[in-house]
Amino acid sequence: MAFWGELGDRIVGAPSILAADFANLGDEVRRAQMGGAELVHFDAMDNHFVPNLTIGPVVAASLVAATELPVDAHLMVDNPDNLIAPFIEAGVASISVQPEAVTHLHRILEVIRNGGCEAGVALNPTTPPEFIEYTLPYLDYILVMSVNPGFGGQSFIPEMADKVRRLKEMTDLPIQVDGGITAETAPIMVEAGAQVLVAGSAVYKGDPETEMGKIIEAGRAAR
Ligand code: DX5
Ligand code: ZN
Repeated sequence: MAFWGELGDRIVGAPSILAADFANLGDEVRRAQMGGAELVHFDAMDNHFVPNLTIGPVVAASLVAATELPVDAHLMVDNPDNLIAPFIEAGVASISVQPEAVTHLHRILEVIRNGGCEAGVALNPTTPPEFIEYTLPYLDYILVMSVNPGFGGQSFIPEMADKVRRLKEMTDLPIQVDGGITAETAPIMVEAGAQVLVAGSAVYKGDPETEMGKIIEAGRAAR
């Protein structure tokens, strides 16, 4: 299974479980899946790279077993090197790292791919597209953070649409956007070239099936 490699030009919704009920993750994902979600966004945070602490490979393994959707791990941690093998072992489909937190980015991307996962980088709002120019051949996707990583429920940073546009001038790699994505902001990012819409609070603030469906529909209508 290669989610990113088989994405084509489709627009896809991905619930961020950061905003879900952690005691019922399987059900929370199923409800978003009923609304059309095709990927699960899994946020790992370490209280170092970001001032928040969440979940790791053990929970990822349980979630992989509980859903038929591919699980995409977004590692907001310093020195993620030690966590790559455990996440691969957990069965996730893809792993993105924050290049701001990695010393040897080329090496870690190769480790992710050699482990059978697809590899991504997640860019902080102020990290320029050029920063990853020489990593493009080693990537399967790019995640553009449209808030500062660390917390759900923050406001969308509008300049990030321009970053998506500039990245699309550099590469054909699929772009995922994460942070403040709603039925209102999704169209802005799709128009700029984004294809995978990650949404946490906008999905889980209400009925996940309905809310996920609205975001996907708004995104697809913007094409
Ligand atoms: C933020 C995380 C996001 C977060 C998005 O650091 O990477 O995945 O869950 O939350 P919303 O959609 O509420 O902005
Ligand atoms: Zn995320």
